[in-house]
Amino acid sequence: MIQKKKPEGVSVGQQMNRTGIGASPKDGKKMVEAAVADEAAPVDGKKATSMRRFYLEESDAIGTMPPPTTVKGAAKTVKEALTGTKATVLIDKVAERMAFERTGTRLYEAILTKHEVLGSFDGGPSAEDLKHIRDEEFEHFVMLKKTLEELGADPTVMTPSADLAGVEGMGLGQVLGDPRTTLAQGLHALLVAEVADKAGWELLIALAQDLGQTQLVERFRKADAQEHEHTRMVGGWLAAHTSAAAKVV
Ligand SMILES: [Fe+2]
Ligand SMILES: [Fe+2]
Repeated sequence: MIQKKKPEGVSVGQQMNRTGIGASPKDGKKMVEAAVADEAAPVDGKKATSMRRFYLEESDAIGTMPPPTTVKGAAKTVKEALTGTKATVLIDKVAERMAFERTGTRLYEAILTKHEVLGSFDGGPSAEDLKHIRDEEFEHFVMLKKTLEELGADPTVMTPSADLAGVEGMGLGQVLGDPRTTLAQGLHALLVAEVADKAGWELLIALAQDLGQTQLVERFRKADAQEHEHTRMVGGWLAAHTSAAAKVV
């Protein structure tokens, strides 16, 4: 069934929402009685906890790092050569940010399509605004790829932290990829991405500082400043949308 798109700012749907128990008090009462009577229901969560415990004890870690590499481009790129564990930790975290920036670029591609088809709203983004952020996310991706290469690492490796970042971003991709979501709903997913992105850059800068990599700190700070701007822009669009929906003058 093709759903008719609702215009931005209209929060009340045309179709009856019957998800709440109050939609049918008689059946709701029966449902509560049945749940209370069902002794198998994991009310205390003990069964779920014991199953989680079992899998935690049995499972391997999420991926591994390739053998530690010596920093190849140390002379021109980094002040202090990194080897062994330090290099491995830095490479894993740079790969994490690279995975996130790649996802970010794709998320903005997806919202650009929504923008093209559905249009914007008062106080919302223009196509140029969204393209500007998309381009910066892509620039960050390219910069991180270059950084990995300069560190002597293979940028195509899926590191454990990169794997995690990919899984964490899956829900965001689902929101943006869902044809039923509006531009504002897509922007909400992007706000989640931007806040996580900003925090991720701050962690990476702190790590590079700890490792004495001043040139990398400088490079990462520029990206972090752009992420602050992204968060402010996306947050502003969403605030305008929510105020209009609630008719706050
Ligand atoms: Fe980003
Ligand atoms: Fe961003």
